[in-house]
Amino acid sequence: MLPKQLHCLLFVVIAGGIIIFWLVSTPASLRRTDVLTVTPWLAPIVWEGTFDPQVIDEAFRSYNLTIATTVFAVGKYTRFLRDFLESAEKHFMVGLNVQYYVFTDMPSHVPITVTLGVGRRLNVVKVPKFDRWQEISLRRMELIQTAIEEYIHQRANYIFCLDVDMIFHGRVGPEALGKLVAAIHPWFYWVPRNEYPYERRTISKAYIPQDHGDFYYQANIFGGAVEDVHRLTKTCREHLEMDKSAGVEAVWQEESHLNWYLWKNKPTKLLSPEYVWDDLRGQGAKEIKLVRFSSVIKNKAEVRENP
Ligand SMILES: *[C@@H]1O[C@H](CO)[C@@H](O)[C@H](O)[C@H]1NC(C)=O
Repeated sequence: MLPKQLHCLLFVVIAGGIIIFWLVSTPASLRRTDVLTVTPWLAPIVWEGTFDPQVIDEAFRSYNLTIATTVFAVGKYTRFLRDFLESAEKHFMVGLNVQYYVFTDMPSHVPITVTLGVGRRLNVVKVPKFDRWQEISLRRMELIQTAIEEYIHQRANYIFCLDVDMIFHGRVGPEALGKLVAAIHPWFYWVPRNEYPYERRTISKAYIPQDHGDFYYQANIFGGAVEDVHRLTKTCREHLEMDKSAGVEAVWQEESHLNWYLWKNKPTKLLSPEYVWDDLRGQGAKEIKLVRFSSVIKNKAEVRENP
């Protein structure tokens, strides 16, 4: 027989072990209580602390997925390409196959000297020069739709459509993959929905009535399975064209149409504003534990062709 104290000690050690094991093995999602981590339709909202990067990477390794990544660098926006690509090579879908599609009117300005990792390729797609920056925004959906139909559907499992005047600062990995994925705008996630800058004129196909809508999504990053993004770009393109023939331009062009589409077709995964930050917002927000992808501060007057 063991002495009583030893029994006690053994009990304490075993109980302590169980508690420590419970703390370590509890899913990470239980650690974020300060932010919304799931939508009312049960889609996860990805925040730092809601997933285990190692578990995710391990789970995706065997699938050998290819991610198409579109980016538009038209006119003076080619100047953003190098930082965009170099930072993407450090942080974006590392370990997966990535096919970049750079849409540009100036192929000679594409920095082909950026070193790409194994399984990653840069493709340049020539597009006409647009006179107004709004025109780029109006044509982007059409160009992505066409590219998916012509070649992306054979080459990729997923597609992400990204803005070029942005830099990766932290991991954007397979935790961001899903059938239909959109990111919550960094300036509107705490704002009541009646104050979202949705298109409010009934004449536009992007019209969302007051008291409707879920989140305000930013068009700087959206993606998903190739088929789902194809449907999105096709619908938005049709609506943009219908607006154009009616002589209307939605308040935030394609972003307004994207928001309409995602109101009618709920995304299966949402990315927190960590995934679409804005350098103008700075580092102060306490719920942002890690800025992953952020718009660089730019002189709009200098890079845009028109106000
Ligand atoms: C993984 O996918 C790439 C690109 O589709 C392909 O070239 C490669 O052969 C695949 N590797 C394996 C092991 O299936």
